[in-house]
Amino acid sequence: MHSLTSREFELMRDYIEKECGIALSKDKTYLVESRLSGILAQSGLDSFEQLYYRLLSQKDRKMKEEVIDAITTNETLWFRDKTPWIILEEVLLPKYIEEMREKKRSKVRIWSAGCSTGQEPYSTAMCIDRYLVRNNIRDISPDSFEILGTDISRTVLDIAIAGRYDNISIMRGLDSEYKNRYFTNKGRVWELSKEIRDRVQFGQFNLQSSFITLGKFDIVFCRYVAIYFSSELKRQLFDKIIRVLNLPDGVLFVGNSEIFTDHRDSFIRKEHGKGVYYGVKGHSGV
Ligand SMILES: C[S@@+](CC[C@H](N)C(=O)[O-])C[C@H]1O[C@@H](n2cnc3c(N)ncnc32)[C@H](O)[C@@H]1O
Repeated sequence: MHSLTSREFELMRDYIEKECGIALSKDKTYLVESRLSGILAQSGLDSFEQLYYRLLSQKDRKMKEEVIDAITTNETLWFRDKTPWIILEEVLLPKYIEEMREKKRSKVRIWSAGCSTGQEPYSTAMCIDRYLVRNNIRDISPDSFEILGTDISRTVLDIAIAGRYDNISIMRGLDSEYKNRYFTNKGRVWELSKEIRDRVQFGQFNLQSSFITLGKFDIVFCRYVAIYFSSELKRQLFDKIIRVLNLPDGVLFVGNSEIFTDHRDSFIRKEHGKGVYYGVKGHSGV
């Protein structure tokens, strides 16, 4: 394995931060070296410095995608932390349904920003479907809930779009009711029903980009993504999220173990049972 010099670490660190926002401290030298050494070996190049200049020249798009895949952490599971979906069922869905019945709204838009292999937006789609069925709600179409999942990594999005999961990922966080109702076992994989797959749109999107083309959302899930960003990028990200939230009621979910105190001035923290969600300060209705 090639070793990464301090200069090469700095070059790669700056490249990675510019491309995907992930901030790497010096103690991550080994992580960068180990995660990128396979790409370097395959490239036929002699050093990480050469790899850096190849990436900079932008001649090799596939290599850039491979670096992003290698550096991003795609850890995810079904109904991660559980509480966002309890809040969805117990607080948000009853309110949205009432508003739709009163013709105060026609749809609900939900964004899973940094959705990895799809567990987060699909958990949301399954939760909404089950809620409508359980409560015998027939006058509201499931299509009134538009769910968007985005991620910077093409590889995780391809898995999400396919909606096919192996035995290990299917076990992580999914209870048997959801599994039996929405998945079909096909040998070593579990395939999510087409009905639920069709309720989520996926797209490749870098959270460092402008959000102007995305439209407005009633709920944004941005969970376990910003933890890898610098504080400046985090600040910019949550400022942009405020601007895409439908006001006054738009809500944000972050990861339960994420420290969100830096954004205290812009968001208002709300609690429901053991769960936490955020509204926009000065506007928040829900
Ligand atoms: C740890 S996963 C979290 C997945 C899911 N939100 C959850 O909580 O289970 C973080 C995801 O953020 C994505 N990501 C990292 N940097 C990103 C960026 N700049 N723009 C968009 N997605 C990014 C990664 O590719 C990865 O799939």
